[in-house]
Amino acid sequence: MNADRRIDGRAFAENLRARVTEETARIKAEHGLTPGLAAVLVGEDPASQVYVRNKNKQTIEAGMNSLGETLAVDTSEADLLATVEKLNADPAVHGILVQLPLPDQINPNAVIDAIEPAKDVDGFHLRNVGLLATGRGGMVPCTPLGCEMLLKERLGDLTGLNAVVVGRSNIVGKPMAQLLLGANCTVTIAHSRTADLPAVCREADILIAAVGRAQMIKGDWIKPGATVIDVGINRVPAEEEGKTRLVGDVAFDEAVEHAGAITPVPGGVGPMTIACLLRNTLVAACRQNNIDVPDI
Ligand code: GUN
Repeated sequence: MNADRRIDGRAFAENLRARVTEETARIKAEHGLTPGLAAVLVGEDPASQVYVRNKNKQTIEAGMNSLGETLAVDTSEADLLATVEKLNADPAVHGILVQLPLPDQINPNAVIDAIEPAKDVDGFHLRNVGLLATGRGGMVPCTPLGCEMLLKERLGDLTGLNAVVVGRSNIVGKPMAQLLLGANCTVTIAHSRTADLPAVCREADILIAAVGRAQMIKGDWIKPGATVIDVGINRVPAEEEGKTRLVGDVAFDEAVEHAGAITPVPGGVGPMTIACLLRNTLVAACRQNNIDVPDI
């Protein structure tokens, strides 16, 4: 019975990437345009290396150009800003992503501010943040966009539903709340300091967990039948000595007994992020070349 409660993000992401691949081929054939994504990695953080490698691989699989750069861990802020300026000016680059976190000598806000907003496929630039907050489009951050797609596919119209977002980061919590507001939900942003967090969560028809604390949200915090989207990716010790495993911010085994639908970790939100990045790159390439944006 629990099987159909699982929201299969991996399958949805594969389907989305297939649609992006198809539209990329069409735009190439009709307009002679190949979308290009530049993912910039500074340093050798192992998790970031894995993410960027996957991004580059999936960019090529979608038929796009992967134009990324890898810079040394001691790269200065000025040199990274010069790289961003070079990519801003390159007409073959339609999307720029600078992988976070950055080494301590670099102020991430200075880098985000330097990215040309039309190429900001992460949606982190103040212009895109402002466009989202005022309901005027722009580039939408990939992880919240993926969560919204999963919700709409499972629930259809979200109008009038109570949504609780646990987490207030600029990458997930805040843009997620804006998207849900735009979809006519009644939105609460909660966080680790919220008073009586379990009671706040129990009001949620839609619960988004994005706090970054392993299995913090318990089964009895979930309103019966609620839809739970778990954005957390936390590495914890596995039962087998010396091994680790990935868990979300939600205690899945308990939560699945209460929820109407829930994303697993891994295989839920995670695969959606890169699929949405490719989607944003395609959208950015079309906008920059005055081509009608495909509806994906
Ligand atoms: N690090 C973790 N998530 C992200 C993301 O969505 N974009 C970038 N640029 N860095 C990240």
